[in-house]
Amino acid sequence: RIDELLAEVGSFSSAEKDVIEQFRIKYSGKKGILNDLFHKFKEVPNDQKKEFGQKINTLKQAVATKLEDLKNAATTNISVEKDDLTKPAFPLELGTRHPINLVRNRIVEIFKSIGFAVADGPEIEDDWHNFSALNMPEYHPARDMQDTFFIEQNPDVLLRTHTSSVQIRYMEQNDPPIRILAPGRVFRNEAISSRSHCIFHQIEGLYIDKNVSFADLKQTLQFFTSELFGKSKIRLRPSYFPFTEPSAEVDVYWGLNSETDYRITKGTGWLEIMGCGMVDPAVLKNVNIDPDQYSGYAFGMGIERIVMLLYQMGDIRMFFENDKRMLEQFKSL
Ligand code: PHE
Repeated sequence: RIDELLAEVGSFSSAEKDVIEQFRIKYSGKKGILNDLFHKFKEVPNDQKKEFGQKINTLKQAVATKLEDLKNAATTNISVEKDDLTKPAFPLELGTRHPINLVRNRIVEIFKSIGFAVADGPEIEDDWHNFSALNMPEYHPARDMQDTFFIEQNPDVLLRTHTSSVQIRYMEQNDPPIRILAPGRVFRNEAISSRSHCIFHQIEGLYIDKNVSFADLKQTLQFFTSELFGKSKIRLRPSYFPFTEPSAEVDVYWGLNSETDYRITKGTGWLEIMGCGMVDPAVLKNVNIDPDQYSGYAFGMGIERIVMLLYQMGDIRMFFENDKRMLEQFKSL
């Protein structure tokens, strides 16, 4: 019987780990054949002990040698693969960063380099932080500018319609000087089209200190746009926001001095990129900052819009479709 086992061990061969492991357990496991035979050895009559013992030892040796050989074969195979550096890797595809995140990171880096810190706030907001504290009391007509998704009413719980809510939260918690950037998702109950979506991303900026002026705001934005777009100039057009006074819309003229610049293809070349203004004293009062001592500016931009300008994309819906053909085009960035 041991001879049969010996033959089986001799002819065993497999490259599969599982099968080899089963083989090992079958012979050398705790309840394996070898242990079983050693137990039986005790009951063998004395005159047969010598022969039986030798056979068991031969079998044990054969099993050990076989396992050793199989192990060597396996590692030889692996080391051949390891050494071949020209061999293509597994076909594991590397993902790409989403263009929204790429551009958000870039914008954050630019403002970090001039001392802005990153802040955030909740996407589900209350009326105070999204509207009232921003100088939009109940029945203020400006509330209609932003179609709101309400979660609950009286008291209102809603999806924030802009990142300006983070201004309020930050100023409630921190004393000036304040210099923050707040990127995040915002939500508006708007019809979805190539130009607008019910979810998009904004980046809010806020700077509060002594003697902050409109000129500081313009300088900062000029610095920002030339960092992001390269050679460019900006203009500020008068506008209206309840929480800033005066308020302005920022246009960038991009591709200056270059008639062949493919990025400017239509219109006058002026492209609107954000809203901004000096923080309204009423807002400062709402967060217990003394408007006689402090002043500041705020700005807010839509990230999708900027990505679309930078990369010539024509449809905002693409950002949420996760079409790999679109995403892969950002691989090298
Ligand atoms: N919150 C404004 C919007 O969503 C943008 C803005 C931010 C304007 C800060 C002025 C100052 O349209």
